[in-house]
Amino acid sequence: MRHSILLLTLCAAPLLAGPPAKPVPDRNLGLSRTSVFDVPVPPLFHDEASAPGETPLPKRINKEYPPVIPHGVADFLPITRSANGCVDCHALPGPKQKGEATPIPASHYVDLRRTPEAKGEALVGTRYVCISCHVPQTDAPPLVASTFRR
Ligand code: HEC
Ligand code: HEC
Repeated sequence: MRHSILLLTLCAAPLLAGPPAKPVPDRNLGLSRTSVFDVPVPPLFHDEASAPGETPLPKRINKEYPPVIPHGVADFLPITRSANGCVDCHALPGPKQKGEATPIPASHYVDLRRTPEAKGEALVGTRYVCISCHVPQTDAPPLVASTFRR
């Protein structure tokens, strides 16, 4: 009895599966582009370590995107309730002075939830943790290069 069920299953399998799919080479699975049996050592990368103002600002893709952080951030993290080094330097009245931190823009003082039409005095809470939007840099090569063009 058990044999006949097995036989039936084996006969029906090709019919159910349709035409055989092309095999995917294991090197094409995932981003490491190695055999799935390899345990590749991730390449060493370094965090950006320059002091603020030392590195030229990278080109911005779009004014609406948060600019990346061009300088090292190790000395200014973590951001806590009582300490926010980013605010200490960047909370400037503006306009931007050469050689100084870029002033935190007006948008960061607008409470979009409660008073979306007015610029307040204080930095809005949702902007407090700068690194949730502004990305620190490393020298790691991108796993997938961006092809985005304006
Ligand atoms: C010691 C002062 C200082 C501290 C602390 C500091 N920054 Fe900066 N930041 C600067 C200066 C100076 C520049 C470069 C401005 C220039 O080159 O025109 C800069 C540039 C930037 C820029 C790029 C702005 C642009 O115009 O493209 C971002 C984003 C930024 N900082 C975010 C941060 C964040 C987030 C933190 C906290 C983790 C931080 N900074 C802490 C001084 C500081
Ligand atoms: C919720 C996301 C978000 C958070 C959190 C945030 N930012 Fe931004 N930031 C942006 C976006 C988006 C822009 C670009 C559009 C704009 O200027 O409003 C920007 C722009 C900036 C700029 C460039 C201004 C210019 O004149 O070009 C600076 C400097 C900056 N932010 C600093 C900070 C600092 C310092 C903090 C933390 C206190 C912070 N931001 C928190 C999203 C954020």
